[in-house]
Amino acid sequence: MTPGRDPAALLLSDLRHRDEDAVELMDDAGCDLAALNRTYADFRFVNAMVAGWRRTYVRLLRPRLPRGRTATLLDIGSGGGDVARSLARWARRDGLDLRVTGIDPDERAHAWAAARPGPDGVEFLRAGSGELVSQGRRFDAVISNHVLHHLRGPAFRQLLEDSAHLARGVVVHSDIRRSPWAYRLYALGTAPLLLRPPRRASFVRVDGMISVRRSFTAAELREAAPAGWKVVEQAPWRNLLFRGGSSDGG
Ligand SMILES: C[S@@+](CC[C@H](N)C(=O)[O-])C[C@H]1O[C@@H](n2cnc3c(N)ncnc32)[C@H](O)[C@@H]1O
Repeated sequence: MTPGRDPAALLLSDLRHRDEDAVELMDDAGCDLAALNRTYADFRFVNAMVAGWRRTYVRLLRPRLPRGRTATLLDIGSGGGDVARSLARWARRDGLDLRVTGIDPDERAHAWAAARPGPDGVEFLRAGSGELVSQGRRFDAVISNHVLHHLRGPAFRQLLEDSAHLARGVVVHSDIRRSPWAYRLYALGTAPLLLRPPRRASFVRVDGMISVRRSFTAAELREAAPAGWKVVEQAPWRNLLFRGGSSDGG
């Protein structure tokens, strides 16, 4: 068993440094597709619990979305599509005419997200951010969730460049802020998933723990981000990498 898969090794992780070499199970092109699909399904619950998008939407996105015309929002690396769908639902409830586009170059993620029904105003494309830049696409707002920690140096910088190109207004990349407590509480909170029978297992627990180990502290993200970007710390354990307008996402 590799260290990335050994639960005991995961619990003993040293979180002082980013573990860029830890590989998430879902990033293996040959991983078990049924378990991956259950992982996309589980993202919906995990994101609702830990990702803070309702707060980010209310504080950073809603005030900056245009009214009186169709507003557009791009979710880069939309995975299972739950964040895109939630944003569309909240905007509709607020009387906003919002069209949400979720993109993911991973055909497995795209197939899963595109096969789920509604709500209106959401579309999923199998594409990377660079392809949309090449097509000259622009959106009023651009977001991502849990994408930054997946990327290494050049890919990280390219994503920021792409998202700045693609946005007419605000960009918010939301990700985990690395901390021992985030790690321990996630491990504890998801421990009941260990009781699932193998045929119902997903990668959400192990990959979530690896994600914390791969994620940035606020200081590391400030250091990595080019000029023009601002890191907003959102309690308890989120970093929002932000550009476009004033930011009080804490
Ligand atoms: C951990 S998943 C996050 C999925 C979803 N946002 C969530 O939080 O549940 C990261 C996704 O980002 C996608 N991704 C990475 N770089 C990308 C890029 N430049 N453009 C679009 N998607 C990208 C990957 O294919 C992967 O599906």
